[in-house]
Amino acid sequence: MRDRQGLGLRVEAGRLWLIDQTALPQAERWQAIDTLEAMVEAIRALRVRGAPMIAIAAALLVAVRVEAGDERPSLLEAIDRLVASRPTAVNLAHAMNTLRGALAAPDWREAVVAAADDLADRDVALCEAIGDHGAALIGSGERILTHCNTGALATAGIGTAAGVLRRAHEQGKNISVWVDETRPLLQGGRLTAWELGALGVPYTLITDNMAAAFMARGQVDRVIVGADRIAANGDVANKIGTYGLAVAAHYHGIPLAVAAPYTTIDLACASGTAIEIEQRAAEEVRGVAGAAGNLCWAPSDAPVANPAFDVTPAALITHWILDAGVFDRDAIAAGALKAAIRSAEAKP
Ligand code: MRU
Repeated sequence: MRDRQGLGLRVEAGRLWLIDQTALPQAERWQAIDTLEAMVEAIRALRVRGAPMIAIAAALLVAVRVEAGDERPSLLEAIDRLVASRPTAVNLAHAMNTLRGALAAPDWREAVVAAADDLADRDVALCEAIGDHGAALIGSGERILTHCNTGALATAGIGTAAGVLRRAHEQGKNISVWVDETRPLLQGGRLTAWELGALGVPYTLITDNMAAAFMARGQVDRVIVGADRIAANGDVANKIGTYGLAVAAHYHGIPLAVAAPYTTIDLACASGTAIEIEQRAAEEVRGVAGAAGNLCWAPSDAPVANPAFDVTPAALITHWILDAGVFDRDAIAAGALKAAIRSAEAKP
């Protein structure tokens, strides 16, 4: 397994390290992940998160286990348990399918390690392509609203929606970003604010319930979000709150783009209604946890609903920013998603 260094993941001398995203931005704690149990725990607890990043981290953990001498049956079982650890983002299932294929090769040990390395390298390149295509869409001085965290912490590269923001900023487009805090787990307030600050991208942090009011005042020119799964008809599952943003953006005539690599597309889901939505623990809504400890503000037995994602119908999306290019609703209806997968898979 090759050495690599990302913002939230690194491989050094065959050892996989993840930054604990639940402790950010107050503490930068790196954790060596050597076992299946440690990786499943990290994924479930959102120590590692973001659709592409979960897939890459899980793939590299399987490579770690191959190099540790695990045999095929236990690796196949590990892959099944990793797939089940978070159900909504399809990138994880995509990566694990690739590794299942490599496990069937005669030289399967080399094949699995090479496939995991390749998935990570590809993700870096996919982010670059998304950033370049998306930045071309953005006009000078735009005030862009984003939700959750889609940056270098959420991928092996520069990110998806946040990668577009980064590229536009680097191209001198003078953009500014409204960062949605993203209740309940605050990926916007904790992670996106931290990343954009480090990059020098001008941003303003807002709570989720402020977004519509800023749109009404004419202070939002565009919304760009990421995706956990894109159905065949263009519907998109993404962090809870995305649908509300899309409804508000549509009402105010503001374009809303979804940025994602081809590994987020799931043609087996005809529409968003087929996408499984992860339900998470009540404690996440009753209070907040972080490096400073846990705080519960609701009655400790308050009944809670906590869907981690929602589905935005294609009718509310104006652009799909993929590694293959930027597509509008007509292009998606005409089969752009299928063509994007075909062209990505044709690349060596
Ligand atoms: O629960 P999370 O933090 O993993 O949710 C992340 C998102 O919803 C992102 O928008 C999506 O995974 C794309 S990350 C490039």
